[in-house]
Amino acid sequence: MPMLQTQTLTPDAKGIARAVAIWRDGGLVAFPTETVYGLGADACNGQAVARIYQAKGRPAFNPLIIHVADMATARRFSVLNETAEILAQTFWPGPLSLVLPVKPGSGLSELVTAGLDTVAVRLPENPLAQQLLAAFGGAIAAPSANPSGRISPTTAAHVLAGLSGVIDAVMDGGTCGVGLESTILLPDIENPALLRPGGLPVEAIEAALGRPLASRDDPATPMSPGQLASHYAPRSAVTLNKHARPNGALWLGFGPDCAGCDLNLSPNGDLTEAAANLFAHLHSLDDKALPIAVAPIPDHGLGKAINDRLKRAAAAR
Ligand code: TXA
Ligand code: MG
Repeated sequence: MPMLQTQTLTPDAKGIARAVAIWRDGGLVAFPTETVYGLGADACNGQAVARIYQAKGRPAFNPLIIHVADMATARRFSVLNETAEILAQTFWPGPLSLVLPVKPGSGLSELVTAGLDTVAVRLPENPLAQQLLAAFGGAIAAPSANPSGRISPTTAAHVLAGLSGVIDAVMDGGTCGVGLESTILLPDIENPALLRPGGLPVEAIEAALGRPLASRDDPATPMSPGQLASHYAPRSAVTLNKHARPNGALWLGFGPDCAGCDLNLSPNGDLTEAAANLFAHLHSLDDKALPIAVAPIPDHGLGKAINDRLKRAAAAR
């Protein structure tokens, strides 16, 4: 692949116009959402979508999430049943992706769905993401803007560290507030199922639906390739549930009982703060090329999503 001069775009009218022009031209622009930076391309342009897989070095069977500015655009590409309508009304814009039947004749590239007849759809809340999507007017396919299998980016600098020279541009919109990818849900009327825990807590979804969710989080049958065992992997070996620093390792703390740790996800033990820091802290520790030991994280609310990511980071590979 020829090296590109990756441009950094400013979050103003000129930068937005440039991003849209690159998208219309079949190029790749990374942009901030409230969860993580996405690597965006026109979801109806197969070659543009192919460039996403190429830039990320991503296995071709991983389907992508499409991002839209509003409900009308969501309906151009997908079909929402009653359960999906309730969830969209309650949680969009926000960190929730719904896996929905593709609308016939939508024009979506098949590479986006990796050949499935469903597509994951998300309406992000980040104002800059909304302005970009509204100005583009269609669907932008966007996985997290990192090389495949590496940590997801929460700043434009993370994006450039992984993808400079292989993407056209990154729109710099500061740090992502949520810091974890979106929660992915299959809104089946009979059996709504969680495909990936993420930035929207499962408890909130269960409260909105008035019923528990089925879980498809079984590593033996990865419905969602995000569940593949070593998807979120720093280069260094990761071990979990360490109450102290092992010899020769870095220690990533959580809460007030981690004096002497190298970095703390949240000194006060706040799971929202820990989620926002997770990828940035893993990036910083990974740069030191030593094993990483992680303190125990409570397994409720956003802690479930954090532990899901950490388990994948620790999986043998
Ligand atoms: O927060 C996010 O969701 C970020 C930002 C950029 O929006 N995006 C993101 O995309 O995390 P990605 O490509 O890294 O993860 C997409 C996940 C994958 O695990 C994929 O398998 C799943 O969505 N997925 C996509 N389409 C699917 C489908 N039709 N059925 C089941 N899973 C699907
Ligand atoms: Mg990813």
